[in-house]
Amino acid sequence: MKIAIVTGAAQGIGRQTAEVLAAAGYGLLLMDLHACVATMDAVKRAGVEVEEVLGDVSEQAVVQRAVEAVRSRWGRVDVLVNNAGISFIAPAETVEGKAFLRVLEVNLLAPFLLAKAFGAMMLEQKSGSIVNVASIAGLVGIADRSAYNASKHGLIGLTRTLAAEWGGRGVRCNAVCPGWVKTEMDVADQAGGGITMRTLKA
Ligand SMILES: NC(=O)c1ccc[n+]([C@@H]2O[C@H](COP(=O)([O-])OP(=O)(O)OC[C@H]3O[C@@H](n4cnc5c(N)ncnc54)[C@H](O)[C@@H]3O)[C@@H](O)[C@H]2O)c1
Repeated sequence: MKIAIVTGAAQGIGRQTAEVLAAAGYGLLLMDLHACVATMDAVKRAGVEVEEVLGDVSEQAVVQRAVEAVRSRWGRVDVLVNNAGISFIAPAETVEGKAFLRVLEVNLLAPFLLAKAFGAMMLEQKSGSIVNVASIAGLVGIADRSAYNASKHGLIGLTRTLAAEWGGRGVRCNAVCPGWVKTEMDVADQAGGGITMRTLKA
């Protein structure tokens, strides 16, 4: 059985990703700050093995717990989907350094820590695939997203670097760059007033 890890699996793109991987027969480790209740139900209905590790993916101790859970249950990993992320919409001149750094921790440091930990297992196996969920915000400049855009540009840079380092050793690293997706993140963004259906359509 192939094994996949999906971060930010409680809702949105992460939940859908987990469900697609379950339908393809992958055993799953789900990671999130919050219990992945609905995802767990869906994945179990698909009949695959599933584990959950809750906590902040930007913390090394949480990453370590995930590695131990995967090593003890399955002893291998085939896919890591670095999906967990946070949005932050505010004019650059109002953004505090601490808030900027927090976005980098979740959107950039966490994917690095997870790629480093599970990439080591993949390199031992000489096979594996890491998928980083970046954004079109990692490809172009979009106003009022200084921290978010910087984190996603950085994530694309990290992806290219790992692909260059590990691609020849059996471990692929790719990024996907979604445009607008109607998830709970978008609902929260629109509730905050930083984005509206009108600005999305513009
Ligand atoms: N929704 C969009 O339009 C859109 C567009 C482009 C890229 N993306 C990216 O796709 C990914 C998923 O977005 P979404 O819309 O599904 O978001 P979402 O807010 O609906 O879900 C994100 C999930 O990540 C979890 N999470 C957040 N911080 C975490 C942390 N520190 N540790 C563990 N879990 C954490 C949340 O609890 C939540 O379950 C993000 O990286 C986002 O930047 C989203």
